[in-house]
Amino acid sequence: MKVIVCETYEEMSRCAADVVADVMKARHDCVLGLATGSTPVGMYDELVRRYEAGELDFSAVRSVNLDEYYPISPDNAQSYRYFMNTNLFDRVNIDKAQTAVPDGSAPDPEAECRAYEEKIAALGQVDIQVLGIGQNGHIGFNEPAEALHPLTHLTALTESTIKANARFFSEDEVIPTSALTMGMGTILRAKKILILANGEAKADAIATLLSGMLTTSCPASFLNLHDDVVVICDRAAMSKVQA
Ligand code: F6R
Repeated sequence: MKVIVCETYEEMSRCAADVVADVMKARHDCVLGLATGSTPVGMYDELVRRYEAGELDFSAVRSVNLDEYYPISPDNAQSYRYFMNTNLFDRVNIDKAQTAVPDGSAPDPEAECRAYEEKIAALGQVDIQVLGIGQNGHIGFNEPAEALHPLTHLTALTESTIKANARFFSEDEVIPTSALTMGMGTILRAKKILILANGEAKADAIATLLSGMLTTSCPASFLNLHDDVVVICDRAAMSKVQA
């Protein structure tokens, strides 16, 4: 596991964009595995800046997102589809038909999860999977539990995740309590994994990840099974790592 510690969020975002840009330059029709949440926003801004500067071309890029609330309409401003459109897809020359986000409005969530796995398999391997990390160590919405799911599935969000996500919702909006998410196996099948974390709230989860052990109480710790993981974080997120 390669760990890069940055001084600022801006530096983290540039560094993360470097890693993604290298993958895009090596393969013009690469498959990007993408995440939402506040952490990768700066990285998306940096990728857009490089696209505007003529350094990056998204025209042949395919993408798959980690997760989506359930149930939610893709037009809802809180949906992860909406997030991806506004933070990246509408700002670069990607073909939106080549971007996949689980359909939070699918009538049959189990069928949607099966179809999503098939869609990912049909793309071949994901070249790089970008991840944030929950305060409780979740990746995607694989929440701490006694057992973890290997494949895309419908899951209930934990109290701590619902609370952490409440900051994105206004008072009169209902905060979703379930989501469709790639499973641990889906994530671990990616060729390369890039995980980003900033702030002290992520320090416990990063310490568990970097301890090198595996525990279902911190799903991110399963990244220790993968041989090409890059962790980019700030000093606050690193503050509980044992020397
Ligand atoms: C988002 C996702 C989540 C977030 C995590 C951290 O697609 O899968 O696992 O990465 O909840 O969220 P932020 O970055 O908002 O702290």
